[in-house]
Amino acid sequence: MRDRLILGQTLAFAGDPVAEGPAVATHEQCGGVLIRDGVIAELGDGTSLRARHPGAEVTDHGAALILPGFVDAHAHYPQTAIIASWGKRLIDWLNAYTFPEEARFCDPAYAAEVAARYLDLLLANGTTTMASFCTIHPESVDSFFAAAQSRGMRALAGKTCMDRDTAPVFLRDTARAAYDDSRALLDRWHGVDRLSYVITPRFSPTSTEAQLDALGALWAEHPDCLMQTHLSEQTDEIAWVKSLYPEARDYLDTYEAHGLLGANGLYGHAIHLEPREVERLAEVGAAVVHCPTSNSFIGSGLFDMGLRARLRVGLATDTGGGSSFSMLRTMAAAYEISQLKGTALHPSELLWLATGGSAEALRLGDRIGRLAPGYEADLVVLDLASTQAISQAAARAEDIWQTVFPTIMMGDDRAVAQVYVAGRPVRP
Ligand code: GUN
Ligand code: ZN
Repeated sequence: MRDRLILGQTLAFAGDPVAEGPAVATHEQCGGVLIRDGVIAELGDGTSLRARHPGAEVTDHGAALILPGFVDAHAHYPQTAIIASWGKRLIDWLNAYTFPEEARFCDPAYAAEVAARYLDLLLANGTTTMASFCTIHPESVDSFFAAAQSRGMRALAGKTCMDRDTAPVFLRDTARAAYDDSRALLDRWHGVDRLSYVITPRFSPTSTEAQLDALGALWAEHPDCLMQTHLSEQTDEIAWVKSLYPEARDYLDTYEAHGLLGANGLYGHAIHLEPREVERLAEVGAAVVHCPTSNSFIGSGLFDMGLRARLRVGLATDTGGGSSFSMLRTMAAAYEISQLKGTALHPSELLWLATGGSAEALRLGDRIGRLAPGYEADLVVLDLASTQAISQAAARAEDIWQTVFPTIMMGDDRAVAQVYVAGRPVRP
């Protein structure tokens, strides 16, 4: 296949701006990304790349900004249709909206339809990789991976396991079925093309200890897999965990006691953590995921960004608990929540969280999430003047950070000019 040369502004992070400051990013006003076989081959000044690669197929995006495709580190694709459901907090929201919708995924045709709709919505929003929960139905996982595979996407997902009588009877598996189904799905999909299987107990209130044990055993047999779940999202939920697991020292201990705490663990929300929980997460090298639009929409609380000093932190929509599919809207919410906690996140930190930071949370920081040679060419191209409100604010900007910040705060899918998946443009 011919080389492809994509021209525009580029912003490339050599490391984590949280630790190293915004100077870790290199901005090219007239930059270029040379793509060969789906991978970034070179990055640099657009004019010189063009001169050195006269045979490349050139796409010039003008003043638009080329970034790595966004990485959504925690989502529920089966909740696509119930996004923006009114008026409930977590436990009632699950019972009123989520569980009835998830029950529909026993039908593979419905699962395939929603998986396709969800992934197309993500691509329209510039998101090229996500870690998604599915439902208890193995078919929901097959449908999701098949849809991601046909789009050439790097995607992570797993069967959501629930066997306790706290979950509705029509959405329960068993400890044995959770192990057997998860293992069969892992064998079928993990490492196929760009797909990864993620071991997925929903959260300790909907699993028996036998099920947590079974999934802990599966993880011990496949330690290279990620394990995703929820942790300390709402205070009512934490009280519920305490009543169901009276022996546990805290919420995290309900996972730890069953082999579900580890370096490849991904713990969604993690808002109301005890000091011991932070200590243990840091000791084992686990990651937590900030879901800011969900945390405000469901009324969960304010995530502590100070955790970044100790833990890998990913950023996520948590659709359909989150109120948007857009990682731009998600960055805006992260900024606002951080402001409420007394810290203004720099645009470099927000962009990093949505790309390289989330990729590192997913243990994919050496493959996606950066504009750098050798990285997979999943890219989003942002129009930094996509609405009148944004363009008039950006017109006053004196540097790239001031130019991009109005798009971070006010942008949505209208700002996404183009998306490339493994070097292929998504829109013709
Ligand atoms: N905790 C357990 N399941 C869920 C879910 O589907 N969404 C959110 N936001 N929290 C959960
Ligand atoms: Zn979730």
